[in-house]
Amino acid sequence: MNGKQPQSVLSRREYKPEIIIFPTAEEVDAHVAEQIISQIQVKSNSVFTFPTGSTPEGMYKLLVEAHKTSHISFRNIVIFNLDEYWPIRRGHPSSYYWYMKHHFINHIDVQLTNWHIADGEASDPSEEAEKFEKLLLQNDVDVAILGVGPGTTCHIGFNEKGSAVDSRTRYNTLDRQTRIANAKYFSNPDEIPQGAITQGVADILRAKRIFLIAKGESKAWGINRIINGAVGPDAPASFLRYHHAVTFILDKEAANLLH
Ligand code: F6R
Repeated sequence: MNGKQPQSVLSRREYKPEIIIFPTAEEVDAHVAEQIISQIQVKSNSVFTFPTGSTPEGMYKLLVEAHKTSHISFRNIVIFNLDEYWPIRRGHPSSYYWYMKHHFINHIDVQLTNWHIADGEASDPSEEAEKFEKLLLQNDVDVAILGVGPGTTCHIGFNEKGSAVDSRTRYNTLDRQTRIANAKYFSNPDEIPQGAITQGVADILRAKRIFLIAKGESKAWGINRIINGAVGPDAPASFLRYHHAVTFILDKEAANLLH
């Protein structure tokens, strides 16, 4: 470590994360969905941080199925989303608001007042971030489910390279790689916003329990970097190693470069 590391990084203790590797992406989905259901069975008013993106689609599908077929109730849970593009209209099919409604919220019995996602339509993203953060800090998050950025981004939420361990909910500019990877969700790739409102690294680390899910070979480099490289802001997900209860749930492609 060099003398220029901020004090907040220097004073942290590092833990060894648990790593679970499944042969297939479907088994990853099933395992994560089971963790969420078990948590709700133990505490029906659990507070969750939830991600969007392609990785958790299978997990949401299984949770909706569990609601429909096994009568698992989400009525008392509280959800904080990790992030939302800014600016974006809530009705835009690529907004995370729309994603959550389409994949999860519309199909379960969660109370809408218990679902919190930053407003991509807010006129001032910093004010919106502050409002979100205030609400988040009034809650103890039981479980955070995270995806991870593609390529060399190593982002969690939209904490791109350079994000500090003590960063809080804020507007952040998207990495070029992130914009390229996510442009496919926009009918006109140039339409993808330059930035997003994201929970900060410190917000994510407040959760009592964290599960990071990664599937496919586009995540392999990052997973190895996060687990085996130095902890620091050039790989924001590596800050998860400062948390005592993190599990990486990977398919074999995402785990392919782990040594
Ligand atoms: C989304 C989020 C992001 C994604 C990450 C991976 O809410 O916070 O960090 O988890 O960009 O996205 P996918 O799953 O599409 O590869």
